[in-house]
Amino acid sequence: MMSFWKDKRVWIVGASSGIGEGLVYSLAKSGAKLLLSSRNENRLLEIVKSLSASDIGVIPLDIGDHRQLNNLTQQAWETYSGLDVVFLNAGISVRDRVVDTEVEVEKKLMDVNFWGPVIISKKLLQLKTDQGQLHLVVTSSLSGKYGVPKLASYAASKHALHGYFESLRAETHGNGLFIHLAIPGFVRTDITVNGLNGDGSVNGKMQQALAKGMDPLTCAQGILVEVEKGKEEFVVGGMERHTVWLSRLFPGVMKKMIRSNPVQKLEKWKQYFLKKNGPKPLSDQN
Ligand SMILES: NC(=O)c1ccc[n+]([C@@H]2O[C@H](COP(=O)([O-])OP(=O)(O)OC[C@H]3O[C@@H](n4cnc5c(N)ncnc54)[C@H](OP(=O)(O)O)[C@@H]3O)[C@@H](O)[C@H]2O)c1
Repeated sequence: MMSFWKDKRVWIVGASSGIGEGLVYSLAKSGAKLLLSSRNENRLLEIVKSLSASDIGVIPLDIGDHRQLNNLTQQAWETYSGLDVVFLNAGISVRDRVVDTEVEVEKKLMDVNFWGPVIISKKLLQLKTDQGQLHLVVTSSLSGKYGVPKLASYAASKHALHGYFESLRAETHGNGLFIHLAIPGFVRTDITVNGLNGDGSVNGKMQQALAKGMDPLTCAQGILVEVEKGKEEFVVGGMERHTVWLSRLFPGVMKKMIRSNPVQKLEKWKQYFLKKNGPKPLSDQN
């Protein structure tokens, strides 16, 4: 399975924790040459230290600070004389009602979740030769597929990624650019702990659904398998992953379901199906 990654030059943006950190640990054993980025340089260096991999480097970067992104993308490209796979995984969340969320906070989220990946991708398109192959793996979310209460700007940023990168995929078809939209379900990371409230203060709490979610390493491994298969869009998660087809096939049902307490409703369904079909293997239970 892992031979796909051998000697691949891989840049992970948003590598210091959660799913991105899981990608690092999974890829460190695959023979890929790794480059890790995010704001927390010390944490990235700790991760590097914990691994015995030889081809691994760090480029500290704030994806919300757009002035530096062209130069840092160039630096990432030059580190291994080109890149084969770039994970655009950095992201933050804002959780609050629209009326309680300041526009400046929403703009900050868009700068990180949407504009950052766009600016890096534009630079990569300039650097990529016509013959070269490049995989962009963009981390979206279930709320990139449908809107969710208290996640308006987060959902908007993830929907925007779909619109932008689907268009880019169509424009560049046959040019060696492969765009993968990864949709994690509920994953047990600090995204909501580090997430912001509508007034810009840090939330500090882990959302219950995430606390019961898939572990980030399993999610990362799931993402790698789907990229390797060449999937353009895929969901990695537990029971909640079914909401994607549900929202497409039965939009009315889904709209009603997410109006109030969608997570509790999902939990009820989960219990119902578990009772009906007996316990699932551990990998399916998250
Ligand atoms: N957890 C879930 O259930 C879930 C579900 C769907 C989608 N996602 C998406 O998965 C991605 C990874 O999130 P996670 O759940 O693994 O959360 P996480 O543990 O909080 O990881 C977020 C990563 O993004 C980086 N980051 C945040 N702001 C940044 C900035 N301004 N510049 C550079 N890097 C930045 C963080 O590093 P630094 O703090 O070091 O900068 C960290 O490495 C996000 O795009 C998120 O929207 C998560």
